[in-house]
Amino acid sequence: MCGIVGYVGAGNAQDIILDGLSKLEYRGYDSAGISIIESGKMKTRKLSGRLGVLAGSLEKDPISGTIGMGHTRWATHGAPTDDNAHPHTNGKGTIAVIHNGIIENYRPIKDELLALGYKFKSETDTEVIAHLLDHYYEGDLLQAVFKTEARLRGAYALVVMCESSPDEIIAIRHESPIILGVGEGENFIASDIPAILKYTNKVVYIENKDIVRLTRSGYEIFGEDRKRIDRQVRTIEWDLESATKEGYEHFMLKEIYQQPSVISETINRRLDENGSLFLENIAIDEDTIKLINKIYVVGCGTAYHAGLVGRYLLQEFLKVDAQAEIASEFRYSDHYIDDKTLVVIVSQSGETMDTIGALKAAKAKGARILSITNVVGSSIARESDDIFYTWAGPEIAVASTKAYTTQLTAFYILALYFGKLKGTLEDKCYDEILAELKTLPGKVEASLPAFAEKAKAAAQEIKDSKSIFYLGRGLDYYTALEGALKLKEISYIHTEAFPAGELKHGTIALIEEGTPVIAVATQQSIYEKMVSNIKEVKARGAVVTGITRKRNTDLSEVADTVIYLEESFNIFMPLLSVVYPQLLAYYTSLAKGNDVDKPRNLAKSVTVE
Ligand code: G6P
Repeated sequence: MCGIVGYVGAGNAQDIILDGLSKLEYRGYDSAGISIIESGKMKTRKLSGRLGVLAGSLEKDPISGTIGMGHTRWATHGAPTDDNAHPHTNGKGTIAVIHNGIIENYRPIKDELLALGYKFKSETDTEVIAHLLDHYYEGDLLQAVFKTEARLRGAYALVVMCESSPDEIIAIRHESPIILGVGEGENFIASDIPAILKYTNKVVYIENKDIVRLTRSGYEIFGEDRKRIDRQVRTIEWDLESATKEGYEHFMLKEIYQQPSVISETINRRLDENGSLFLENIAIDEDTIKLINKIYVVGCGTAYHAGLVGRYLLQEFLKVDAQAEIASEFRYSDHYIDDKTLVVIVSQSGETMDTIGALKAAKAKGARILSITNVVGSSIARESDDIFYTWAGPEIAVASTKAYTTQLTAFYILALYFGKLKGTLEDKCYDEILAELKTLPGKVEASLPAFAEKAKAAAQEIKDSKSIFYLGRGLDYYTALEGALKLKEISYIHTEAFPAGELKHGTIALIEEGTPVIAVATQQSIYEKMVSNIKEVKARGAVVTGITRKRNTDLSEVADTVIYLEESFNIFMPLLSVVYPQLLAYYTSLAKGNDVDKPRNLAKSVTVE
């Protein structure tokens, strides 16, 4: 979603802002723009297309100044045109605003402003803010911001600048995330940390409904009551290196290959000196876990798929009813939730709007909230009773890989820990499962080279396909869902996942000569049933790739190609079986010449509903 960078200091604002925006490209965008105060005059330039288009224009005709802000836009209201790109300004071009999110009541405000004679240049919801600021401005930008903000409904992160106050930038956080970077004689505002990490590792997470005013020499934060408030300055431990490709052609490939080390990290951070699990940031004790009589696991996209596996594990180990739900559905549904309900929120970014909405809806009904997230201090982390950080490091590629496998790891750990705490998991099982969990990073590592070779070759075979199907049963169906999501989102080939037993109730009509089918068959108790389903699609012309455990050598008699996985327990198969589909998606996208890390129409962090 939209990227925001603001700078006030002594440096070259244009260079710093462009550099910052380039670090936010992963969020997905379709146009870019910048406003800088040059010799007392606000200059705004904005163009549709990639950041390179704007950078090219600025190279030919630079804007020099030491205060400015830039934006990469992911279109919501209005097409990705030059006019709709941010910043938006008042009629005179002296007040500029950039925005991430949606202003829900922009229509009545626009009507009111039109009646006052204001002229609009764009189709965006954002432009009303620039004119409202103009309307309220009486020489004090902060007061104008307070008055304007009081009129707005929706979710937004806003950054505002005014030609008449060339020493200040004002930013508002209302649901959409924003962070403040604290430097020496310079300060920054941004939608995410990588944008400013080159300049400072001192960061303040702006809380919901805060307004921040930054100048060269300092900053002030105003809380919801608009009184000054202090917020903690945190030091970011990871460096910019972890947000670069480190020699890999794409972030996605780097992140796939990082999986053995980040899964290890997720596990090792939870082991005490005796090799047993301990969980910081989780306050659920024996009494609390025994009281829980219902669990919901909630997330979007890949996080939801991890939640499907997690639901299974929690139900199995805790002997309690557990359901997985898509956040955008869950938040508006009428579930019976009370203080005996545990809601597990899964979100890599910790900032997904629908997931935050689901969290708040469940919290309002009294549920205990445990979140699994990758971003320390994110909105979701801050709203939760208990937190499990996945320690995957920054995930930049839009298609999520290491976030998924570390989320699975989180569920294994949580299910083991709670199962033991509750007494529903025998000590012997706990010990065996924990010991096996520790072997998983090595097993993923061992499989990567062969999987990459096979995926590269298979990509050539499937890249021109019209449709591809993933099949699976039980836990394998969840891998099928995640494999299909990966493939469709970056190859743009229509890919669907089906529970293998359901196929004959309709979908099998779509199988024709040469249709690629990827069948995940790792669950031994239903393996024979999967073999029958594979035969059904083979008989109708499908070209089948089977994914199974090493021991099932007979699959090669049925499937055209077989990917063999390292042996492990059934419950661990989702973590081992997803790696090949990740690589297949990567190499297919590459073979099609797509932008692997930044697929069309998608955003890494979805901060609108
Ligand atoms: C976007 C991303 C997906 C991600 C989903 C949920 O759609 O493109 O990769 O799975 O959001 O994101 P979250 O940060 O909440 O896990």
